[in-house]
Amino acid sequence: MATDILDVLRTKRDGGTLTDEQIHFALSGFTAGTVADEQMAALCMAILFRGLSPTELSTWTQVMLDSGSTLDLAAVGRPTVDKHSTGGVGDKVSMILVPLVAACGAAVPQLAGRGLGHTGGTLDKLGAIAGWSPQLSPADMVSALRDVGGVICGAGDDLAPADRRLYALRDVTATVEAIPLIASSIMSKKIASGTRALVLDVKVGSGAFLPEVDRARALAATMVGLGRDHGVDTVALLTDMETPLGRACGNALEVTESIEVLQGGGPADVREVTLALAREMVALAGLDADPAEVLDSGRAMDVFDAMVRVQGGDPEAPLPAASDVVELAATATGHLRRLDARAVGIAAWRLGAGRARKEDPVSASAGIVCRAKPGDRVIAGQVVLELHVDDPDRVEGAIAALEGAIEVGDTPAEPRPLVLDRIT
Ligand code: URA
Repeated sequence: MATDILDVLRTKRDGGTLTDEQIHFALSGFTAGTVADEQMAALCMAILFRGLSPTELSTWTQVMLDSGSTLDLAAVGRPTVDKHSTGGVGDKVSMILVPLVAACGAAVPQLAGRGLGHTGGTLDKLGAIAGWSPQLSPADMVSALRDVGGVICGAGDDLAPADRRLYALRDVTATVEAIPLIASSIMSKKIASGTRALVLDVKVGSGAFLPEVDRARALAATMVGLGRDHGVDTVALLTDMETPLGRACGNALEVTESIEVLQGGGPADVREVTLALAREMVALAGLDADPAEVLDSGRAMDVFDAMVRVQGGDPEAPLPAASDVVELAATATGHLRRLDARAVGIAAWRLGAGRARKEDPVSASAGIVCRAKPGDRVIAGQVVLELHVDDPDRVEGAIAALEGAIEVGDTPAEPRPLVLDRIT
């Protein structure tokens, strides 16, 4: 029987299961332009309410993958393992983790994105380094992975191209939040990147894409299952994103903090999350290395410098600095109980560190430094946040975003674990 898009829509609307043929018909037709945007939008909304079974999801992801090409990393000569984060405020972990796991002996082919909204993108952060380019041809990527071990670059247009069109449609139809659609979107791009193993950092808390732990856990389990189905060994950690990770939020500021961690210092929370993810990656790659020992040896720092140079950057060049710093102080004495990640992320974005539309430029130097973090004692008048500003017109909007974000109380807040769960 010939497939009809209205049958596909009715089947999912009424809670039925789509056949492989129906999924091919709808998704490939959307990519080819024979299924209209409004029909695909209706299907996404039906999926948001009705979900996809594991079999439907596996087929859906395969069709997304088949819409483009898959990188072949066989010539790299090292075990490949990658990490994906669902995004958080101050999440600079990739800049430390990729060279660290490469220094442990793996090849880490990280195809990263630019930031959108209140979470930053790794390509924007590394873009603060003079001369650094996110563009690498597939052949140059393979040779960098062979010689240096780590690469962070932009994904070419040919990796799961169906996702780009579908994501743009979801974005304007309030269907981004559908867990099967998020999982297939992320995993199709990661599977297409050619990695054999993957560690997912699924953030939980106010600054996360999915703030609630139950939904974050469901997303993690769905992605782990999809990875397995497609031959990619996948493990997920759920990590805390109630407060910014580390102290720096903003592009050049986060590069500086990452280098501090690579040099053996930096904030303890950044080091802890990075090492937890690194241990998972090293285990999946089958390597016998201790990431903490490798980090302390300085070998990861050397790999970072080499990675920057391969992509045209100068790791010795001074990073851009903002022209002005505006300080925000605690209004009471006591324990800092809460410093809200989402509010800090939105404030950094309004200062210029992030973008609202994907074609907007970002400021390399704007951002926020958290001079105190939850758990610290503060006294009234003590600086809690530094706003790094290069456009004074943006300060008012940033301060407005921080309204209610800092909570000082008489008793300390319960310490929160950084790693909340592990999903295999
Ligand atoms: N990130 C993606 O790449 N896809 C989604 O659907 C959501 C977040």
